[in-house]
Amino acid sequence: MNKNKNKNKIKNNFFKPSEQKSLSFDVYNDREFADSYSNKAEYNSHNALYERPAMLSMLNDIKGKKVLDAGCGPGLHSSVLIDRGADVTAVDYSGEMVRHTLEATEGKARVLQTDLNLPLDMFEDEEFDVVFSSLTVHYVNDWIKLFSEFNRILKQNGYIVFSTHHPFMDFSFHSDGNYFETELLTDDWPSYNVKMKFYRRSLGEIFWILKNTGFELVELSEPRPVKECGEKFPDAYNTLTRKPWFIIFKIKKSDK
Ligand SMILES: C[S@@+](CC[C@H](N)C(=O)[O-])C[C@H]1O[C@@H](n2cnc3c(N)ncnc32)[C@H](O)[C@@H]1O
Repeated sequence: MNKNKNKNKIKNNFFKPSEQKSLSFDVYNDREFADSYSNKAEYNSHNALYERPAMLSMLNDIKGKKVLDAGCGPGLHSSVLIDRGADVTAVDYSGEMVRHTLEATEGKARVLQTDLNLPLDMFEDEEFDVVFSSLTVHYVNDWIKLFSEFNRILKQNGYIVFSTHHPFMDFSFHSDGNYFETELLTDDWPSYNVKMKFYRRSLGEIFWILKNTGFELVELSEPRPVKECGEKFPDAYNTLTRKPWFIIFKIKKSDK
């Protein structure tokens, strides 16, 4: 593969909107929205009975491991990570989400308000065993910077588990553009009465970035909802068992 050629392609591919930094911050930092997200995500179909169990099932034993929850939201994953014995640091750019995580983790996690668009200077090189990031990376513009920072703060045998929107779903539902170009998209979230902005990247671009920021794939999951989802939310279950909604990557640091 001609690395330089691809580097140019990636550079040109970056969307450069005026709101390049802190996409969707105003939505996530709104108290009413954060409270509502926290309540819904605890019990709903897409988070509680689909994404969260799938993400948590991708982890190895994390007892005693230093785990960064990047984009912690209301702290629902962080609480489980703590219950599993991890030493958790949770970050989010939303002060309201930080407040929820502080409450949910009852002082058992280090919780910081941090924008993942910026360098993670508060963390040492090779500080973490695991970076865990649930449904957050699609709000970040420059994945080369983000995953390079994740690589820097991970121990040599460290790994990342992250989930994002399935590119197939985003492209078929929200785009009439070019699949191969990174796009800034907007989705209506009617149950929250907000419009949410996020980026869509092609699968090829995602893999190129991961490889060129020093990672190799361990596992890729196109998850299905748990059985309980079928009992409580039959319509959502019917959709999620037929259409890919989220995708989960487990990647590890490549050998030096
Ligand atoms: C869909 S929510 C997911 C929250 C949580 N991980 C979960 O799954 O319950 C996305 C989270 O990412 C956070 N977020 C988005 N962009 C961010 C950024 N640039 N830096 C830090 N946090 C960000 C939001 O505040 C929000 O809490």
